[in-house]
Amino acid sequence: MTSRRDGILREMGLAPLWRLRGAAEIEEAPVVEPAPPEPVVRAPAMPPSEMQAVDEATVKPLARFAPPVAGLSSGPPIEAPATHRDVPGDIASLGWDELDARIRACDACELCQRRKQAVPGVGDRQADWLFVGEGPGAEEDARGEPFVGQAGRLLDNMLASIDLKRGEDVFIGNAVKCRPPNNRTPEVSELAACFPYLQRQIGLIQPRLIVALGRPAAQALLNQEVKIGAMRGKLFEYNGIPVIITYHPAYLLRNQADKAKAWEDLCFARATMRRLKHEVEA
Ligand code: URA
Repeated sequence: MTSRRDGILREMGLAPLWRLRGAAEIEEAPVVEPAPPEPVVRAPAMPPSEMQAVDEATVKPLARFAPPVAGLSSGPPIEAPATHRDVPGDIASLGWDELDARIRACDACELCQRRKQAVPGVGDRQADWLFVGEGPGAEEDARGEPFVGQAGRLLDNMLASIDLKRGEDVFIGNAVKCRPPNNRTPEVSELAACFPYLQRQIGLIQPRLIVALGRPAAQALLNQEVKIGAMRGKLFEYNGIPVIITYHPAYLLRNQADKAKAWEDLCFARATMRRLKHEVEA
């Protein structure tokens, strides 16, 4: 019988059955029905070897510092830099409603000139999971909700593949809240102008884990140049919150071959979340 998850993986381009190479330490790929009961998470000492191989070849070693960060005391090390960035004073104290109003009225960069509306974000305001995209596209600009177009449908399937659902313990936001014209990549100055809003959202949500979808989101959060291929499979942090980087769903729609890597990243994220929860409970 075809399971719901097989359907989701098929939608992600991973069907019929795709098993993560060397992933036993991270996560069993969903090939067995019924799913085994979830034991206590066995945290891998390091990311799987094939991920490391990519990283070591392409990333200059960043300074590593010892965990714990946000309660994470085992598993892969968290990469530096870990510069704490304060939220600008006038935004730091805003509640949800004031923040949303502020975002909707924002004219801090030129993206405000051509937007239909700003798109602050959607979901559980006390979520453990925060997914951060790049910026609204045409459908999001029209509807005022992030990821409601084709990329959004893939994001929903990606969430479902690790048993998550939009709005249930998940908040979805963007690095810039207004649509860049013709869906171009946001400028660095636009990312910087919008970042205080994301910072405040993070402060209000206090997620356990942030998943950066694509390069602009990761650059905004980490305040550094990002190469996804080199940085995926590792843990970074924003102000003490672990950050995992993966491909943007719109990129995956154009580059189906990388969906398997995105699935690896999602498994890594799920294992990290389990470890975070387990370590808080222990
Ligand atoms: N792409 C994004 O990065 N965000 C959206 O909200 C929609 C598409």
